[in-house]
Amino acid sequence: MHLVKIDRAHRVHIESFGCQMNEYDTELVRSLLKARGFTFTEDRERADVVLMNTCAIRENAHTKVYSHLAELRAIKRQRHLVVGVLGCMAQNLKEELTETEPLVDVLAGPDSYRRLPDLLIQAIEAQEQGLKHRGMAVELSEYETYDDILPERTDGVNAWLAVMRGCDNFCSFCVVPYTRGRERSRDPQGIIRETEHLVAQGHKQVTLLGQNVNSYQFNAREGARLGAPGAGGCDWDFARLMTAVADVPGIERVRFTSPHPKDFPPALLDAVAGHPKICKHIHLPLQSGNDRILDVMGRSYTRNEYLAIVDDIRRRNPDIALTTDIICGFCSETDEEFMDTYRVVQDVGFHAAFVFKYSERKHTIAARKYPDDVPETVKTNRVNRLVDLQTGIAFRINQEMIGRTIATMVEGDAKRSSSQWKGRADNSLTVVWEKDGSRARPGDLVPISVSRASVTTLFGKELPA
Ligand code: 5AD
Ligand code: SF4
Repeated sequence: MHLVKIDRAHRVHIESFGCQMNEYDTELVRSLLKARGFTFTEDRERADVVLMNTCAIRENAHTKVYSHLAELRAIKRQRHLVVGVLGCMAQNLKEELTETEPLVDVLAGPDSYRRLPDLLIQAIEAQEQGLKHRGMAVELSEYETYDDILPERTDGVNAWLAVMRGCDNFCSFCVVPYTRGRERSRDPQGIIRETEHLVAQGHKQVTLLGQNVNSYQFNAREGARLGAPGAGGCDWDFARLMTAVADVPGIERVRFTSPHPKDFPPALLDAVAGHPKICKHIHLPLQSGNDRILDVMGRSYTRNEYLAIVDDIRRRNPDIALTTDIICGFCSETDEEFMDTYRVVQDVGFHAAFVFKYSERKHTIAARKYPDDVPETVKTNRVNRLVDLQTGIAFRINQEMIGRTIATMVEGDAKRSSSQWKGRADNSLTVVWEKDGSRARPGDLVPISVSRASVTTLFGKELPA
């Protein structure tokens, strides 16, 4: 491949929107750019290149990016500036972005980051010569896992670690299969080696990432392109992978996101329930509690099957915290159907629920087949009712923690005051306590006796270890 050399260090400013996978991808991009001599700045005003790693999941993610683009337009009127749009929006809205946004010099989708350094250098050179140029790399790949790229990580305690990419589920509302392509899993040996490297760098926690993380599968004999289920079986599934990562000496905690309820075999539930290093938290996206809506969404489980998984989890370990995602006002959802969701939320008692208004996404099955016919005011009303319900539930669950002592991993200063620590309980709840007399450091596990609780946070006192 022809590599263009750069003769001075161009300063790059990257803004990341969306999910944890996007944060991880931003770290990958930093690594790829650093290897080619780019430097980085937190200050957008001093940057030669501004990159936005975008999300396409809901309308408000788009709106945010467009308002940032408007700000960049003002800067670009004054001076040279290369603007790049990366990620899911670049992939999904390439036509729209190139037609309506002369401002955008480079577009790169999630599978094309290896080409980004060259595209940026070409754009910089073109701009310096006063030429119009647009670089675009938006091919999806069946193989790309960036297995050989070590991300430029910024957080000291937690490390994101992508184990698979893409999604084959095609839920009718979801844009992800179109922006991130087909499922593919990384070689487990590479993942374990990377975990050992993370320990050596001082990380205490890894969060395993994938758009559909628990459908991870790798067949060592056939390589990463392991085919359809049943095609010769597979030696590595997600339970085996997560256990191997949790067994790496020096790792204190392992988390994972985002799973699908269809891929929770008993071995995976046993691993979460029983392995001391695997956190007692499962994010189990419900989306709807009504069977007809679940069917139209293409979710492949019924309300009762979902509730049976919840029972299976709690039978193994009642301390496992459950969180969920819910969409309100999906195409044709009636108020009675919404009430089925409401009742599931009431019955399960999630630690947290992320509740979204349905927003139609270009290219999805729903956009092609089902009218977005629930009025905006009805969607808002349903979201508000669920949020009110969940607020009461979370408050009650957190109150029950008062008086208990919980192992908490120190993450850093609390948001409100640097005289307090912020940390995370094993079940993912945020914990805040006074530093006074504490000798803890970020990454340490300390016992906190809980004395007070709000809807989102536990407050307490650090006990001697
Ligand atoms: N509209 C609203 N919410 C959506 N999600 C995914 N696609 C859409 C959409 N088109 C939500 C789902 C998913 C979470 C990450 O975002 O609840 O689990
Ligand atoms: Fe957003 Fe989904 Fe892309 Fe993550 S994978 S950035 S949530 S659209």
